[in-house]
Formats: sequence, C-alpha cells, structure tokens
Amino acid sequence: MPVRMPEPYRIKMVEPLRTTTPDYRQQALHTAGLNPFLLRADDVFIDLLTDSGTGAMSDRQWSAMMSADESYAGSRSFFKLSDTVERLFGFPHTIPVHQGRGAEQILFPCLVERARQRGATAPVFISNHHFDTTKAHVEIAGAMVRNLICPAALDTARHDDWKGNFDLAALASDIERLGAEQVAAVVITITCNSVGGQPVAMDNMREAASMARRHGIPVVIDAARFSENAYFIQQRDPRYREQSIHTIVREMFDCADIFTLSAKKDAMVNIGGLCCFREDGELLRAAQLRCVPLEGFITYGGLAGRDLEAMAVGLDEACDVHHLASRIAQVEYLAERLQKAGVPIQTPVGGHAVFVDAGKIRPDVPGHHFPAQMLVNALYLESGVRATEIGSLMMGRHPQTGEQEPALFELMRLTIPRRTYTDNHMDYVADSLIEVVQRAASLRPLDFTYEPAVLRQFTARFKEI
Ligand code: F0G
Repeated sequence: MPVRMPEPYRIKMVEPLRTTTPDYRQQALHTAGLNPFLLRADDVFIDLLTDSGTGAMSDRQWSAMMSADESYAGSRSFFKLSDTVERLFGFPHTIPVHQGRGAEQILFPCLVERARQRGATAPVFISNHHFDTTKAHVEIAGAMVRNLICPAALDTARHDDWKGNFDLAALASDIERLGAEQVAAVVITITCNSVGGQPVAMDNMREAASMARRHGIPVVIDAARFSENAYFIQQRDPRYREQSIHTIVREMFDCADIFTLSAKKDAMVNIGGLCCFREDGELLRAAQLRCVPLEGFITYGGLAGRDLEAMAVGLDEACDVHHLASRIAQVEYLAERLQKAGVPIQTPVGGHAVFVDAGKIRPDVPGHHFPAQMLVNALYLESGVRATEIGSLMMGRHPQTGEQEPALFELMRLTIPRRTYTDNHMDYVADSLIEVVQRAASLRPLDFTYEPAVLRQFTARFKEI
C-alpha cells in the first residue's frame, strides 16, 4: 500500500476553538434569522463557510510582511509582486486590488464600454460559470451573463474528470446567435466554483479561448483557484503527468488576455487580488483609470505594502506541488468519509470543498424553500460546523422579470480553508453531517422573512414552514 503522506508543514501557532451547547446554538441561529452568514464567528466551532481569506499564512509570508515597503506610489513590494506575476503567468502588467471583486469592478465596465464601441447593444459575458459576485458585477456594469457549463457537471453522481468544462457547442452557437460584437468577454473560471470546484481541461480552455479570439472577443480567466486547476490537470491528463505545476500554469494562462484573481483562495492571503493584462493597451489604461478612485493608486490598489508582500510569496506557495497534494487529499478524505456513509456529493470531489447534493437528500422540497439551506442550518445546530448554500438562494431572481432563477442544483458547500484544519476536524464534520442526513426527512422547509433584492444569501432572514 502506498504510504499516505502527512501535511508538508508543522504547526507553529495555534488558535483555540470554542465549543457551544445545542441550546446555545439554537438561540444563536434564531438571532441570526436562520442564516448562518449572520452568526458571530465566535459561535462557530469549525468554519467551512468559505476558503476565502481563511487559510493559514506561512512563516515566509509573515516574515515578508515585515520587510514591506509602504510607499504610496511605486513601492518595492509592488515590483516584487508584479515580477512574481510575470514569472508565473507571463503577464507583464499587474494592477493590485483589494480582492477579486475589486478586479471585477475596475475591469468589467471597461469591457462593456469596449463592446459598445464595437456595436454591442445588449452586451453579454459568457462563462463556464460566473461566481455570484462576478455575475453581480457584470449586471452592475449593464451587461448580462450566460453560463455554459458542460452537461456532465449537472449529474452529481456521474464521474467525469472535467466537470468545469465549457459546453463548447453551446459557446459556438451562442456567439453565432448573439453575434460576436455583443460578447464583451469570455470568462473562464478555474476551477469552476459554482459546480463544485471542478477543473477545466487544458484542451477545453484552449478551444474556448481560440473560439473567442477568432471573433475578437477578449478572454478573461477568473483565476481564484488557478493552482488547484493546474494540479488536477497534472493528475488527470496523462500528457501533463511529468510537467511541473509552473509549466501547466503558464500554459493555462497562455489562453487569456486578462486575468482577475482573488488572492484569498489559492494564493493564501487574508485579503488581496489582482487584475493583470498581457498587453499594454486601451483596456489596461481604462482599468488603471478606474482603479485610482475605486481601489487606490495603481501600485497598491487598496492594499498595504505588507499585503502585496504576502501575496507575492503566497502565489509561489500556491504552486508547490506538495502543498497541492496535501490540500486536495484533505478534501478527498472528507468526501470519502461522506460517500462511504451514502451521503450524495458532487463526484469526483473538487478542489476546495465538498458539495453535498441536498436536492437528492430532500427531493420533495422545491428550490424556493431552500433544501440546501435547511441542511446548512441543521448541521450548525448539530455540531457548530458552518457550511454554506450554493443553490436557489444564491441564484436569486432574474434582474428584469423578478422570477426565481432556476438553480442547476441545490448544494451545501463544505469549504475547506487551506492549511487550517486537520483530518480530525474533517472526521468531526463527517460524523456530524452523517447524523444530520440520517434524520433529514424531519427538517422543515424555509421561507423568507426578509428577502434582499440582490445577493440574498448574505443577509436574508428565514422562518421554518
Ligand atoms: N471568482 C470566484 C470563482 C470566486 O470564488 C470568488 C469568491 C470571486 C471571484 C470573488 O473574489 O471574494 O476576493 O472578491 N469566492 C468566495 C467563495 C467568496 O466563498 O467562494 P473575492
């Protein structure tokens, strides 16, 4: 039997966790309007809400922060970051931003403006799948989204190596039907968060990109989980088995003209992001112009010099194959424990989270009564573990018609922060969730007592019906 390798780090600093009683959690969840987003984090035992900004930084990251240059303009730390970006991704033009959505808010209006100048009357962004805040930024910029995920992704029980792939036939026919001039950008989300942290194959990225380029459409990579995608390519595509993560990353980014990156994920910082360009041109300058009033001067983008330093080191650590192997193995460990107990999950498991198929656990509950949120709440009450919903609640309503948008599925996401919890924590999560699923038939559907107009999942309040 191959030896199961332990974590490629040891722990230098610890943070105590607080346990609570079921009665206490009942009260806390009630106060939070049955929405765990509104809990105090101190009332959470194991927090699997997100992998965003919640990872543990390394001693190298912390020590780099101490030698940061806090100059307002042209800081040494900025050049260290932009050199790292150029070396890893081959992109010479870096704009730091406060996080991923900062990149979206400076870039997307520029892409919409470019499309309008080329005759677009109803600009669209086409993606394998936009993340929710990404979709929000497209809509704020006056455009619409199209999500063209491959059909394999929709069947959570079906094993497919590349569930993050574009449906290329749909992409071709959309460009044809809408007219290339209407398409403001093709956005390739790696890994594809919304369908389970699923990887996009190299060939699929290349084909989507070349289709866009043939029509003069800019290609944007949403790179939040870029190194996890590269690791899956190395593990699953035999042509890349002997290639380094660095080589694969370079090849993936050769597909793009621009990338946005939330550095809070793979790059393992608590705050930070990037908006990077291959070419020095009108789009770069337009984004820089928007950056100054919205994020800050173009060499700091709303971040302290120390944040730029931590990001530069984190980008390199993200590409360490030993880190990636250990990270993905932990996600697989939790997935296997749940699967052995018959809990339906998106298979194969993705890079950053286990996505539990709540629609299969409670098929009798329609999307607008939020079966995955029911499970999220029950798991918190059972164990103090906080998960999140990726389903009808997150999808929201159509901006024009106000109708509930149909969700692809009703998922509960158990999102695993990087280098933060041990496999013992994963065992506790698995044991607790298995308990909850066994009595899932008794959980009561939810209805809004307060429904926000957009991005409902963050501040909605519920009652049981
Ligand atoms: N793109 C993807 C694919 C994301 O998953 C996220 C954030 C963003 C963009 C926006 O980045 O948060 O730094 O502004 N995802 C987090 C999550 C919040 O929990 O999945 P941000």
